[in-house]
Amino acid sequence: MNTQEVVICSQLENDLRKAVTKSEHDKVFILTDEHTHLFCFPVIKKFPFLKDAVEICIGVEDVHKNLETLAYVWTQLGTKGATRRSLLVNLGGGMVTDLGGFAAATFKRGIAAVNIPTTLLGMVDASVGGKTGINFNGLKNEIGAFAPAESVLIDCGFLKSLDHENLLSGYAEMLKHGLISNIRHWSELVGFNMDTIDYARLQKLVGESIAVKERIVAQDPFEKGIRKALNFGHTVGHAFESFAMESGNPILHGYAVAAGMVCELYYSHLRMDFPKDKLRQTVRFIKENYGRVAFTCEDYGRLYAFMCHDKKNSAEGLVNFTLISEVGDIHINQTASQDDVYDMLDFYSETMG
Ligand code: GLY
Repeated sequence: MNTQEVVICSQLENDLRKAVTKSEHDKVFILTDEHTHLFCFPVIKKFPFLKDAVEICIGVEDVHKNLETLAYVWTQLGTKGATRRSLLVNLGGGMVTDLGGFAAATFKRGIAAVNIPTTLLGMVDASVGGKTGINFNGLKNEIGAFAPAESVLIDCGFLKSLDHENLLSGYAEMLKHGLISNIRHWSELVGFNMDTIDYARLQKLVGESIAVKERIVAQDPFEKGIRKALNFGHTVGHAFESFAMESGNPILHGYAVAAGMVCELYYSHLRMDFPKDKLRQTVRFIKENYGRVAFTCEDYGRLYAFMCHDKKNSAEGLVNFTLISEVGDIHINQTASQDDVYDMLDFYSETMG
């Protein structure tokens, strides 16, 4: 799989001009959603090299990450003159870069794409690593392709208009990258003040965080082995996310992952001797910033059922996990029984209050 060039922008206009003119394109299309159309598109539409670019705007959020929206994008590309030599610039969060990336990968068997993620979650996770796709038949990211963008442009200026909850949601993936990389990076992340954001420092941390993901994806682009490290916190996290959605109180992805990391770090401590002091420090950071996901011990069965349905499991009754024995020491393909899962949920309930 090709890898994309990730550019931490010093000046968006220059960096984007370079990305757009890197290879020759006959026409540029810009995919936005109803939010980025209002708040981010005005920043780039005034750049002279985009004066003839055609905007395609889609509905906001995950409910629109479907076949109908994808068909709409294909239709717009087709009727507005896109050829195999056209370029699609995806300007938005993970939903836009996932769907736009898949539209680009499939239109006329593939046109070039550039990602400009505008949310923290999009910057450190969705826009990097080549996973693209849509939800289908009620299943998240069921249809898709590995198709990296040509370039990914990171401009933390977009984060200044992002609400605090969405900033925290993306930060959970950064915390995960800290836990699976090295002690210096992890310790900077748990020491970061989320109440008064220092954007220059955040931009540096974002660059390091993306580099962690890129290093892992380069070793295993198709998730046969070490890329599973990126699922740390997600086995329990996805169960929390689905449970909250089912209960009618949806929570942001990163909040679910943060809660999932509390459980999976505790299990890492039990099974792999992950150090207690680092468990405590990470849990304290998550408790102070993310609060508690709502569930009671009566919901354990339902949460466990969600984990059992995870497509990553191999044996019936056992749930697959990635664990760590120290910051950066990764153990993929670990399993937990129902009792182990209930222990993790007990720990979460007792610790998070
Ligand atoms: N979001 C995890 C991955 O890209 O593999």
